[in-house]
Amino acid sequence: MRNFTSVHDLGDLKGAIKEALEVKKDRFAYQHLGKNRTLLMIFFNSSLRTRLSTQKAATNLGMNVIVLDVNQGAWKLETERGVIMDSDKPEHLLEAIPVMGCYCDVIGVRAFATFENKEDDYSEKIVNQFIKYSGRPVFSMEAATGHPLQAFADMITIEEHKTKERPKVVLTWAPHPRALPQAVPNSFAQWAVAAGYEVVITHPEGYELNKEFTDGATIEYDQKKAFEGADFIYAKNWAAYEDPNYGKILSTDRAWTVDSEKMALTDNAFFMHCLPVRRNMIVTDDVIESDRSLVIPEAANREISAEVVLKRILESL
Ligand code: CP
Repeated sequence: MRNFTSVHDLGDLKGAIKEALEVKKDRFAYQHLGKNRTLLMIFFNSSLRTRLSTQKAATNLGMNVIVLDVNQGAWKLETERGVIMDSDKPEHLLEAIPVMGCYCDVIGVRAFATFENKEDDYSEKIVNQFIKYSGRPVFSMEAATGHPLQAFADMITIEEHKTKERPKVVLTWAPHPRALPQAVPNSFAQWAVAAGYEVVITHPEGYELNKEFTDGATIEYDQKKAFEGADFIYAKNWAAYEDPNYGKILSTDRAWTVDSEKMALTDNAFFMHCLPVRRNMIVTDDVIESDRSLVIPEAANREISAEVVLKRILESL
């Protein structure tokens, strides 16, 4: 595997999950793969889990790691070709990318949707420029339309906790004060369908996601009905996808907050969220603190999903 931006890059998902569970048993077994190899992690946006778990995964594999926070100490980058560069951005991404490629063997990129231009966001303009111009394998650490390392960790977590061959997995929209990208729900829906689960997505009308990611899932606008008999509840906020409301907040209705009353409708479901989470907006304190909450195991499995992805990239060098 050279690049990793989607579930399709892994090939057989069940095989990848099996590999992840093996790696988890002995996460230092592949140290030879990363010897004298350098990972460069580039962040256009903030991170806690992705930064720490990916760095840990790389060191498990024997790699050296360089981290660049583009907005803290680096030159501000122009991303548009053809711009007369007389603003506060002294360097162009088209020089910066191949320069970065000189100093490493593998590049991880975090570049969220900006909501300024839907076409730019959904063509994954930034990550694809890294793939095209860096000369190095590139993996997504959350891009505009997907967060595959998170979805991979979530699938590992579901496999570790499911008690049915085909559990009912519900992705529910929940309120948030800011407009958030669709990357996490897009990936979660796509990966959960690919894993063979029964996938139901519930959200207020107007929050329909891109069908490319939700194909195979059922849409249910009644949140309580969606929760009935669920084995896993995955909460997430996202801004509207469909035009003319792309990137807009259409609702902050706290009737959609996940609480214990709604969890009681499920089949004793586990609660999941990728974190960071706004308590008592997305989920109540008692639900996230309950013994059915998987938010910490999900975060722990980020190290494993990153390690499998890096292992496969290193094996291809
Ligand atoms: N879930 C996740 O990607 O967390 P960070 O934004 O903190 O990396």
